[in-house]
Amino acid sequence: MTKQEESRFQARLARHHDELRWLYMELYDNGSMFAELCDQLHRFADERRPVLKKRDAAREAEPDWYKHRDLLGSMLYIDNFAGNLNGVRKKLDYLESAGVDCIHLMPFLDTVPGRSDGGYAVADFRTVRPDLGTMDDLQKLTDACHRKNINVCMDFVMNHTSCDHQWARRARAGDGEYMSRYFFYDNPSIPAEYEKTVPQVFPTTAPGNFTYFEDCGYWVMTTFYPYQWDLNYHNPRVFNEMMYNFLFLANQGMDIIRIDAVPYIWKELGTSCRNLDKVHTIVRMMRMIGEIVCPSVILLGEVVMEPVKVVPYFGTVDKPECHLLYNVTTMCTTWHTVATRDTRLLRGQLDSVAGLPKQYLFLNYLRCHDDIGWGLDYPTLRQWGMEEVPHKKYLNEFFLGHTPGSVSRGELYNDDPTTGDARFCGTTASMCGLETARTDEERALAVRKDLMLHAMMLFQSGIPMLYSGDEIGQLNDYSYKDDPARAGDSRYIHRGKLPWDRAAQRSDLSTPAGQIFSGLHELESLRREHVAFEASADVWTLDTGDISVLGIGRYYDGEMLAGLFNFDTAPKTIPLPDGTWRDLHSGAEYSGSAPLEPCGYLWLLHL
Ligand code: GLC
Repeated sequence: MTKQEESRFQARLARHHDELRWLYMELYDNGSMFAELCDQLHRFADERRPVLKKRDAAREAEPDWYKHRDLLGSMLYIDNFAGNLNGVRKKLDYLESAGVDCIHLMPFLDTVPGRSDGGYAVADFRTVRPDLGTMDDLQKLTDACHRKNINVCMDFVMNHTSCDHQWARRARAGDGEYMSRYFFYDNPSIPAEYEKTVPQVFPTTAPGNFTYFEDCGYWVMTTFYPYQWDLNYHNPRVFNEMMYNFLFLANQGMDIIRIDAVPYIWKELGTSCRNLDKVHTIVRMMRMIGEIVCPSVILLGEVVMEPVKVVPYFGTVDKPECHLLYNVTTMCTTWHTVATRDTRLLRGQLDSVAGLPKQYLFLNYLRCHDDIGWGLDYPTLRQWGMEEVPHKKYLNEFFLGHTPGSVSRGELYNDDPTTGDARFCGTTASMCGLETARTDEERALAVRKDLMLHAMMLFQSGIPMLYSGDEIGQLNDYSYKDDPARAGDSRYIHRGKLPWDRAAQRSDLSTPAGQIFSGLHELESLRREHVAFEASADVWTLDTGDISVLGIGRYYDGEMLAGLFNFDTAPKTIPLPDGTWRDLHSGAEYSGSAPLEPCGYLWLLHL
């Protein structure tokens, strides 16, 4: 490091050292392991390439860089999108043309086919899956992205390793040092104790939280699939080594690190093993470690839970944890609204998000690589006569297309007959009816619904994240059923290859792909143009007088916007707040009221 870099590093370390040491000692009471950690922080900071050190300095000067309204993400599977990492590099122009300036590369580290959980079972944190390329290709891609001002995000799967990871192999061979990095039991009594209090993640595809391995004669904790072995963070060696992996990956040129399944990382007998206090200690330490070594890198927490459990992962103003969290409840409440055409719950949800401190930044999305779990506010729904189990069944039946009038298509996921708790899989376009549409009119309605949902997503504060393929209305892909390694996991229905023939129609406005692509593009440009989309804007919901029409207001720096979103297939006339309003798309001006098409929306500017 140059003198200046060294003094910057030391200043960052000094800022966090005491708190980091305090938390580390509270958790591990091990001074020599802490000293080792500090040495390694220095080493990883030193190893950052000059371009990344420059990025660090620039972002230290502007720590709120990720809060600006110009960010638009896309999450993509490297192989589905472009074959391999070099292929993605060659297709950056396509992403740019879609307005994307942040890509989430879905898991690409080495994993064993057939035991991979879509890459979430990592066999080696330092090697790229060979068919996707090499670490060198990854650096070339991140450099190319940065030259185009595109940020790069990747997953850090920290709750578990694959059973093919060398630690797991050694543990399985009976090496005590490595067994202590996982949860190994030589008899079923403790696993049985855990099962009394720990819920199941995959009740149908991978029941139970432990797996018995006959070859070694041990029960191993496997919260997710049997080949995903939970790491034991009670062991400081696990924490230190995983932090070195985290920093190694950050040093490949990452801007955002998604910490996968983070609520699960700390286990205690007699608890649910979710969201325990020590999880927050670890995330807080990661935040400080990142700020010390690679201050341009931010943390995105994957907490797919109800709001009261999500929000604590932001930490506090003085002791922040994640920079960004998924807005999961708004996502599933949006789909509930599609099925019920009743916006009351969504309105309440948006009001509670708007009531949170403005420094909390969410990542908004309609669909992602996972299923939609119906984590709705059931106490509220019950007041309106919707009970949890029958309502989940109603939603699933609706999106399966079994309800009269439903045009959606998709499949159930982890249908648990004991709890009635099935989740749902499908792409946005298929769930909006594009797959079943046969006439021009049906296609137009499906496209409008798809764009209305995106318009609602983009109207919210935070970072909008598109699911790759949604920009061209990609449909469900049923070919996973022919692949024995995937057939049992219906999430692959929405993990199809990007249909490049469909993408080729993106400038043809007579096609649904062209209509969605250009519609989204217009929305993104408007979002960038108008200051009222800043994350620190005031946001509130409007009473539209119609239960199936959602209204949102935004105000920032003298600019006021209103968004109206019609979840009904009938046209509407909606009363407007006082004044004259201009439709940002057509330029038409309204006062008193405004017309909405079936499943249409309006973005209005107050004049
Ligand atoms: C996260 C991922 C999901 C994966 C799980 C286990 O929830 O989003 O796809 O199955 O973690 O790693």
